[in-house]
Amino acid sequence: MFALALVLASAAPARAEMDAGQYEVKEAVRSAAERVGIERQITIERDREQAGLAEQEARARESEHRRREEDERRPFPERLLTARCTACHASAYFDEKSHGWLGWQAVILRMTHLNGAELAPGERDILVAHLLDRQSPGATRTTVEFALAAGAVLLPAALARGVARHARRRRGRAPSSLPSQDTSP
Ligand code: HEC
Repeated sequence: MFALALVLASAAPARAEMDAGQYEVKEAVRSAAERVGIERQITIERDREQAGLAEQEARARESEHRRREEDERRPFPERLLTARCTACHASAYFDEKSHGWLGWQAVILRMTHLNGAELAPGERDILVAHLLDRQSPGATRTTVEFALAAGAVLLPAALARGVARHARRRRGRAPSSLPSQDTSP
């Protein structure tokens, strides 16, 4: 509070020292003809600026139109991939990835169920086919994938059968190994 009072007290004389002469604007008075000339100049410049803006807009609209036409000429699956997947990935991203049929199905299922990608029914199959097309040799990879998937399903099944058979054999033997219940003297 004391500091504030000190600041105000020291600022007051400084303000008082300024005199009206310092606010005077030089050459403030122009002739009427001069004023008309300046106004005309301003109008011309404004018109020119607006014309430039209109031209710029027209050019932007034209290039947008051309871009859309070009986009519509791309094959449908390619456009679908752009529409559904490039919100989160650059389109070049898919060139680095290589999966078989099963792998792409799993990836897209993960995208829709975990990551929030939105697909209409049937679009997953179109995208999988397209993604397989984009990468070079997909056939062998798909075969390997199916073999691995089949192995993953069949191996536990085979193990379970083996365990069950083993248990059955042991149970079959069990009664003969029970101690005899003979209590006669
Ligand atoms: C809403 C955002 C989003 C959208 C849309 C999306 N993804 Fe993804 N994607 C992710 C995230 C997050 C990851 C990393 C986590 C993961 O792998 O699940 C990822 C990872 C991936 C991977 C790398 C994983 C791997 O196993 O190779 C591929 C490939 C992929 N996405 C493909 C796609 C395709 C194809 C589409 C279109 C159907 C798509 N994504 C749409 C978010 C998205």
